[in-house]
Amino acid sequence: MMRTHYCGQLNETLADQEVTLCGWVHRRRDHGGVIFLDIRDREGLAQVVFDPDREATFAKADRVRSEYVVKVTGKVRLRPEGARNPNMASGAIEVLGYELEVLNQAETPPFPLDDYSDVGEETRLRYRFIDLRRPEMAEKLKLRSRITSSIRRYLDDNGFLDVETPILTRATPEGARDYLVPSRTHPGSFFALPQSPQLFKQLLMVSGFDRYYQIAKCFRDEDLRADRQPEFTQIDIETSFLDEKDIMAITETMVRNLFKEVLDVELGELPHMPLAEAMRRFGSDKPDLRIPLELVDVEDQLKEVEFKVFAGPANDPKCRVTALRVPGGASMPRKQIDDYTKFVGIYGAKGLAYIKVNERAAGVEGLQSPIVKNIPLDNINVILDRVGAVDGDIVFFGADKAKIVSEALGALRVKLGHDLNLLTCEWAPLWVVDFPMFEEDDDGSLTAMHHPFTAPSCTAEELEANPAGALSRAYDMVLNGTELGGGSIRIHNKGMQQAVFRVLGISEEEQQEKFGFLLDALKYGAPPHGGLAFGLDRLVMLMTGASSIREVIAFPKTQSAACVMTQAPGLVDNKALRELHIRLREQAKAE
Ligand code: AMO
Ligand code: AMP
Repeated sequence: MMRTHYCGQLNETLADQEVTLCGWVHRRRDHGGVIFLDIRDREGLAQVVFDPDREATFAKADRVRSEYVVKVTGKVRLRPEGARNPNMASGAIEVLGYELEVLNQAETPPFPLDDYSDVGEETRLRYRFIDLRRPEMAEKLKLRSRITSSIRRYLDDNGFLDVETPILTRATPEGARDYLVPSRTHPGSFFALPQSPQLFKQLLMVSGFDRYYQIAKCFRDEDLRADRQPEFTQIDIETSFLDEKDIMAITETMVRNLFKEVLDVELGELPHMPLAEAMRRFGSDKPDLRIPLELVDVEDQLKEVEFKVFAGPANDPKCRVTALRVPGGASMPRKQIDDYTKFVGIYGAKGLAYIKVNERAAGVEGLQSPIVKNIPLDNINVILDRVGAVDGDIVFFGADKAKIVSEALGALRVKLGHDLNLLTCEWAPLWVVDFPMFEEDDDGSLTAMHHPFTAPSCTAEELEANPAGALSRAYDMVLNGTELGGGSIRIHNKGMQQAVFRVLGISEEEQQEKFGFLLDALKYGAPPHGGLAFGLDRLVMLMTGASSIREVIAFPKTQSAACVMTQAPGLVDNKALRELHIRLREQAKAE
């Protein structure tokens, strides 16, 4: 072994000891005939001093440049009182360098690592191997590793078996587009990369493994956002003979242990909230409970008013009219309200009515608003009482299709919470429960809200009689407004599975073709089972305070689902295409 210590691990207890460090030259400074090299490795920095007394070594130190790879041997000594650096783990000591070996040279890096400021993400991703040398990036990947090891330890200790499942497989429907891989040996046929190990983990339960986990790569070709990557990692879990309460308890304890071990944070017991309540109070299926603002429905006060913008939706059961009180918001300038009006427009809202409550005792004169003249004061007073408005508040209103109002005011609620610094705590986890089985598309057809293998909380007959009204046995864990994970009790009965397929409009023939293996498995002794999957990248993002999951993935894809470093996806030559029995459309036209 070349090194005796990592740079960041040096401290006063090693004073007067000889150490050997291996790492990169982070910074080189010349101070009145003395050369300082800050040497960096994954654990941090150490300052090495070279005196001119050792001539040959000094000359070498004089020639090294940033990012050279070096091996240094020297003696640890305490820094003089005034020269200590409290921002550096090893800031109380330095190393007097005796020997210096250059293990490799480096060209000037494309961006500086010590004084890292606004380097574009594209450049960082193109040279990711350099970007990851930055101490803050190394910190995130180290924390990620501590997180997976804590989770593995918990699951191993609780009798879960780590089993791998295939990457080359058939479509596993989780609602996104599949990544396809053409088969050379089966002309015209394609593998799909798994959107999740869902069906395989259920089959492992049929095989009797009882408790399974896997830290599994999943692939989804969907529109990317800050918390979505085409290739991401799940902590995937499945169990037999447990109900939803047991599964939530086991996984909640796992997450609580994790936060305690890694961040020393006590999350406490997670509240459970039905989806309908989350939508009503927070306009979201993943409410951020750090923010103390709530939506309050006011349709009943607006059914008869002349103001059509409100009266129309107030009388339409598919619509919603809701109010959002912001304490102290009356001082908000017009420009800010206009900006929020634009913001809710992103979600399809056609406007953002408001009432500034300047002085309630003064009646209509005390209210500043584009709408109060259109609504009787009695109704306004009931509304203001209901939202708890006091002098100095602003109340915003949304009126439209329920989906638009919930999304728009739900997002506004979160934005206001951040803009006005209203967060009441650092961590706010919860379980969202009582999801419907199906979602209605615009054309009236139904799709599975979670996935089609989720068990309903009713019988197959009840399900087929009123599919749109059926609830499922699914649950999501939400943390700070991010969906961390989701799962459900599964269908373990063939008749029930076929009833769900029928509701989804999947013909008997298609059922056999796509899911024949699952229907077979359900015939041969499938135990009651259920599980869940957490998004590891999202968990790490939240625990490190990163702004995007790209910051906690070593080699992520860009927003357009490409890798700018390896230039993937790339073209392939004609020979490879021919072997795969593929002719590109452009080629076909040309021929
Ligand atoms: P679901 O589709 O809800 O459930 O996924 C589980 C969790 O995975 C994370 N996630 C993602 N993270 C990053 N990028 C993405 N594109 C992405 N998509 C999902 C989320 C999500 O909560 N098989 C079921 C689980 C089960 O029923 O056991 C499933 O995949 O954090
Ligand atoms: P208008 O009558 O269109 O000038 O709108 C009067 C006020 O109502 C303005 O403040 C608009 O921003 C607001 N508004 C218009 N449509 C809606 C809507 N669908 N929901 C909430 N507020 C709205």
